[in-house]
Amino acid sequence: MCGITGYIGKNNNAIKVVMDGLESLEYRGYDSSGIAYTNNNKLNVIKEKGKIINLKNNIDFNIKSNLAIGHTRWATHGEPNKVNSHPHQVNKFTIVHNGIIENYIELKEELLKNNYTFKSSTDTEIAVAYIDFIYKKEKDILKTLNYITKVFRGSYALGIICNDDLNNLYAVRKTSPLIIAKGTNENYIASDVPAILKYTNKYMLLDDYEIAKISSDNIEIYNQKLELVTKDTLEFEGTYESSMKNGYEHFMLKEIHEEPNVFKDTINTYLDKDFKNIPGFSKYNNIHIVACGSAYHTGLVGKYLIEKYANIPVYVEVASEYRYKHNFYDEKTLVILVSQSGETADTLACLKKVKEDGIDTLGIVNVVGSSVARESKYVMYTKAGCEIAVATTKAYLAQLTVFSVITMYLTNNKTLIEEISTIPTLIDNLINKDYKPIAKEIYKNKDIFFIGRGIDYSIAMEGSLKLKEISYINSVAYQAGELKHGTISLIEKNTPVIAISTDDTLSEKTISNIKEVKARGAKVIFVTNQNINDNFYDIKIDIPRVNELLQPILTIVPLQLLAYEVAKLNKCDIDKPRNLAKSVTVE
Ligand code: G6P
Repeated sequence: MCGITGYIGKNNNAIKVVMDGLESLEYRGYDSSGIAYTNNNKLNVIKEKGKIINLKNNIDFNIKSNLAIGHTRWATHGEPNKVNSHPHQVNKFTIVHNGIIENYIELKEELLKNNYTFKSSTDTEIAVAYIDFIYKKEKDILKTLNYITKVFRGSYALGIICNDDLNNLYAVRKTSPLIIAKGTNENYIASDVPAILKYTNKYMLLDDYEIAKISSDNIEIYNQKLELVTKDTLEFEGTYESSMKNGYEHFMLKEIHEEPNVFKDTINTYLDKDFKNIPGFSKYNNIHIVACGSAYHTGLVGKYLIEKYANIPVYVEVASEYRYKHNFYDEKTLVILVSQSGETADTLACLKKVKEDGIDTLGIVNVVGSSVARESKYVMYTKAGCEIAVATTKAYLAQLTVFSVITMYLTNNKTLIEEISTIPTLIDNLINKDYKPIAKEIYKNKDIFFIGRGIDYSIAMEGSLKLKEISYINSVAYQAGELKHGTISLIEKNTPVIAISTDDTLSEKTISNIKEVKARGAKVIFVTNQNINDNFYDIKIDIPRVNELLQPILTIVPLQLLAYEVAKLNKCDIDKPRNLAKSVTVE
C-alpha cells in the first residue's frame, strides 16, 4: 500500500532522506511515486509512473532542501499515472496521502460549487482542495486540520506542507499508519519504521485524529481539542542493517534464514521453565480467530490445535467477511486478531466492531505499537523483527509458534521444552537443503495443486498461497478427500500435486487420495514426516518428525523455499510481486 515519508531539517538533506525512505518502503507495494521539496522558499513537485528509479532519474540530488514529502502510490482511485500520483497540490497546500477518503464525492460536490476544478481522478486531490477551502475561512493551519478530521470519513495518513508556513511540516492520521521520528536538527514522518532507520531509531506514534506540527528541532502533537499532548519516544530495537538484505539475493530468502532465531525469540518470550507474558485465557469457552491472508492460515492451524488439545471450539474467518456477518459471540468469547503489520484495514475494522460490542480481544501482532496492538485488550507479540518481503515467511512461522504456545498454555503442557530446544536446528537443516532440483520439475507448469487432510490442509493452503503470490502460477489447495468431488478432473499427465502428510491417523486415507491422482498421471511431490517408501510419489521431501504441536513449524519451511525457487526460475520480482502490497491498509 501507499508509503509516506517526510523530512524537515537544518541539514538540508530533504531530497536524499525522503528518497531513501521511499526506497525502504518499496516492499509495501506501489505503482508510481512522487516528491515535493522546497528550494529557495519555492515548492517543486516531481512525479513519475512505475518504479522509483524513474523518479530518481528526474531528480537533481545536489539541490539543498530543508523540507520535503514523498509518496509511493498503490492505485485505488484512478489508474497509476503521473497525474494521479502524489503529492497533490491545490493553491497553498501540498499533500501526500495513504488511505481512502470515503466521502470524497460529497466533498467534491461542495468544492465544485465553490469553483474548484480538478485534474486527477483521486480522492487525495479532493482532500487537499478541501483543506485549502477550509483554510481560506479559518486562516490557521492547525484549526483547518482539526476541522477536516471531523469531516473526512474513511482512512488517512497525511503529510502536509503549506506555503504560508515552510518552517513546519504537518501530519494527521486516522486508521492509516504514520510515525513521527526524531533526529538531530531534523525530524521525519513515515508510514513505517524502516523508512527512517538509516537516520534514527527514535520515533513516536500518532494516534487517530492527532495532528503533528514538526519543525527542525521541535515536534508538537495536538489532540482534537487542539491541546498539546505528551508522547512517549520509542526506540526501534533492530538496526538499519538488520532490515537490509545482509548479502542475501532477496529479502524473502534472508527472512526464511532468520526463522530459527525467530522461533527461539518468540518461544522465549512466552515459555522458559514456565509460561510467562500470556494473558489469562481461562474464562473463555469459545474463541474466534479473525485475520487476512497468511495470518488467516495460521488461524486455521490454531483452530486445529486448540480444538483437538484444549477442547475449546474455535471459529476462524477472514476479516473482510467477519466484519459484515452476524457473529455469535458473548462475554465468554475471546476474539483473536492475527496480523503481521497490525495495520490491515479489514482486521482493524473487525477489532473495532468487536470492541464496540464489548467482547474481549487478543492481538497476535508483529509490529510493536501498531494499531491492532494498541487497540486489543491483550497483545502477544510475534518476535519476527522487521519483515520486508511482501510474501510473509518468518512472521507466519512466528504466528504458528504463538498458536503452539497458546495450546500448550491452555492444556498446561510443559513437557515439550526439551523438544522445543531442538526446533531451531531442525528448521536450519530444512533451510539448508536444495529445493532447486524440485523447482525445476514444476516451474513451467501452469497449474499446481496442494493437498492434505486436517492440519496438513491448513499448511497446504499457505504453501499454495506462497507459490501463487510470488511465481504467478495458478495454485490451489484442496482437502485431499474432497478432490474427487470435482477438482480431480483437472489432473492430467504431469500436473504437479504437492501432497502433505504428517498426521499418522490420517496418512492411510491421504495416501489413497494421492494414489488417485497418481493414477491420473499427476507428478506427486510427497511432503512427509513418515517413513514411507513406495511408488505413489515421484519426489519425496522428508521433514523431521516432532510433536504435532510443533510439526507445522517444520512442514511449512520446505514449501516456502520451494515457492522461492520456482519464482526465481520464472524470473519473478520475488520481494515485490505484482499487484500485491505488504500491508493492506484499504478495505
Ligand atoms: C497482505 C500480505 C500478506 C498478509 C496479509 C495480512 O495481503 O501480502 O502476506 O498475510 O496482507 O497482513 P497482516 O499484516 O495483517 O498479517
